[in-house]
Amino acid sequence: MDAVDAVLIDFTEHGHRVLAHHSKPIPDHLRAAIARLCSPGHIEGDPVDQVWTADREMGELLADAVAGLLATTGMPADRIAAIGSHGQTIRHRPPDGTTTLPFTFQIGDPNCIAARTGITTVADFRRRDIVLGGQGAPLVPPFHAAVFRHPDVDRAVVNVGGIANITLLPARGTVSGFDVGPGNCLLDAWVKRHLGRPYDDAGAWAQAHSPDAKLLRALLQHPFFHRLPPKSTGREEFNLGWLDAQLGVLPTLEAGVVQATLLALTSTTLGQALEKYPSVCEVYLCGGGARNRALLADISARLKLRTVATTAALGIDPQWVEAAAFAWLARETLHGRPGNLPAVTGASRPTVLGAIYPA
Ligand SMILES: Nc1ncnc2c1ncn2[C@@H]1O[C@H](COP(=O)(O)OP(=O)(O)O)[C@@H](O)[C@H]1O
Ligand SMILES: [Mg+2]
Repeated sequence: MDAVDAVLIDFTEHGHRVLAHHSKPIPDHLRAAIARLCSPGHIEGDPVDQVWTADREMGELLADAVAGLLATTGMPADRIAAIGSHGQTIRHRPPDGTTTLPFTFQIGDPNCIAARTGITTVADFRRRDIVLGGQGAPLVPPFHAAVFRHPDVDRAVVNVGGIANITLLPARGTVSGFDVGPGNCLLDAWVKRHLGRPYDDAGAWAQAHSPDAKLLRALLQHPFFHRLPPKSTGREEFNLGWLDAQLGVLPTLEAGVVQATLLALTSTTLGQALEKYPSVCEVYLCGGGARNRALLADISARLKLRTVATTAALGIDPQWVEAAAFAWLARETLHGRPGNLPAVTGASRPTVLGAIYPA
C-alpha cells in the first residue's frame, strides 16, 4: 500500500536482466481509500461506487508507473512483450476451514493499463488458483525457484512485504512456500498512529526499545501461526483492531515497546518457520522489510549458523523482486504455461494464471 513498483526485465533462455525500475508513490487520498476498502466493515456510503472508483484510479496510477518506467529508459512501448500487473489487494479470503466461498480481490483496472500504454497486459493472477481450491498465494515461489535456486545448496527466500512469505528452495526435491504472518503491516500501522510516519525507518524506533514478553506471547497465540501450510493471510486477520484487542487485556505499554514487540513478532515467526528446515543454510530477504536493518539483525541473530543477506547478493535488488515475479508470471501465461505450484498454494492442479488484455 506504499507505492507501485515497476520493473523492466528482459528474459532469455539463459537468464534475466533487470533493465530499469521505477516506483510511483500512491497519493494520500487513494491510499486512504484503499485502507478503508481493506478493512472489513469500514466502508461508509456506496461500496460499489467506492470499489470501482478506486479500481479505475489504481488502473490510471499503474499506467502512470509504466509510463514513468519507460521514460527512464527511452524504450518504446512496442518493444515490450507484456505487462504483468498484480494490482492492489483489497480483500483476501482464502480457504481457511471457515470461509465457505473463498475469494481474493485485487484492484487496478487492466483495461486502463492496456489502453493507455498500448502494451498487452496480463492481470488477475490469483483467482483461478482459488477456484481450484488453492490459497491464491503465495505466487512468487516458482519465480524464486527459476532465478534463485542453487544446484548444491538449500536456500530460502523471505519476502517481507505487508505480509511475509517464505520460499524453500532445496537443491533437490520439491519447492515449497507459504505465508508466515505479518511482515510490515502492523509495524507500519503502529508507527502511523503514534508518530504519523508511513514506516519506522531502518527499524530505529523499534530498536530503541525492548519487546514485551507477555504481549509477544499473546500475539503468538493467533491461530494463523498454528495452522499448517498451505496457508496465506492478509490485513483481514492482522490489523490494528486485532492488536488493540490483545493490548486491551494487558497493563498499558509504552508505544515504543509495542513497536519493538511487533518487530519481534515478525522476526520470531520467520525464525520459527525457518528453524523447521535445518538443511537451509542460506536465507535471502526481499521486499521493503529487507531495508529494516533492525529486523535483518534480529533474524540474523536467531539463525546464527546461516548466511542471512538480501537478494541483492543474488543479483536482484530486494525492492524489485516481487515486480519481477509478476513479469515472469505474465510470461508463463503468454506461453500457456501454468504459473501456480500446487505444493505451495494447495490448488488441485497446476493452471495457467490470469487474464490477457490485448494491447
Ligand atoms: N528504510 C526502511 N526502513 C524500514 N522499513 C522500510 C524501509 N523502506 C521500506 N520499508 C518497509 O517496506 C514496506 C514496503 O515494502 P513492499 O515490499 O513494497 O511491501 P508491499 O508489497 O506490502 O507493498 C514499507 O511499508 C515499510 O514497512
Ligand atoms: Mg509496496
